[in-house]
Amino acid sequence: MTNKNDQSSKWDERYMSGEYRPRTEASSLIKIATERMDCKDKRCLEVACGNGRNSVYLAEKGYEVDAIDVSTVALSRARERGENAKVDVNWILGDVDEFEFVEEEYDVIVVDFYYCEKELIESIKKSLKVGGLIIYEHHIRTENEIERGPSKDKYRFKSNELLDYFSDLTILYYREGIRRVDRGSMAISSLVARKTEGDSQKYPDEIGGSMSQK
Ligand SMILES: C[S@@+](CC[C@H](N)C(=O)[O-])C[C@H]1O[C@@H](n2cnc3c(N)ncnc32)[C@H](O)[C@@H]1O
Repeated sequence: MTNKNDQSSKWDERYMSGEYRPRTEASSLIKIATERMDCKDKRCLEVACGNGRNSVYLAEKGYEVDAIDVSTVALSRARERGENAKVDVNWILGDVDEFEFVEEEYDVIVVDFYYCEKELIESIKKSLKVGGLIIYEHHIRTENEIERGPSKDKYRFKSNELLDYFSDLTILYYREGIRRVDRGSMAISSLVARKTEGDSQKYPDEIGGSMSQK
């Protein structure tokens, strides 16, 4: 079993050596899913925030952002990004498996390219307010030839696994497929879901429409 220190130094080493080359632009899925949301007084959590590209984007939009990552190197880069952008983010250095998720705390929770075990997913759902959004993208298993993502299937979701985990929420957008980026192709599942109550809901315009044109 690996502990926080192992995880931290493993990721520090990946960042320092350049073995992991993080993207610098905020995720398109996050941009589209939040573009029409009123972010005044809204609280957001980014799980495994890395270099802070998404958290800083959300803070620039006006969200109050908590962002956790286990890597000291990642978090110091994230802090610097936040300072350059002149935004406040509550950067938390720690293991997300030890994070105390408070019930109904967040309006938006973002997980971008981090594999959460089922137990962590349950904590995330618990910590969303009713009406709150989860925005999640991660690598999936595939038969295609791909260049990017975890080498072990263990850290990739199975087809529909992410969808199944969040099927008790309202799924506003879900897609699996191959994405080609400058450094190669990857197999990704993308999900936007809202914690809801009741059988009938008010839907935002266009999440699916605008995403499917990307
Ligand atoms: C593939 S990177 C993604 C970073 C960021 N979400 C992004 O998309 O740019 C995965 C991140 O997870 C972090 N991480 C790994 N294990 C963690 C843990 N147990 N708790 C918190 N962060 C963790 C790593 O330090 C790394 O920054």
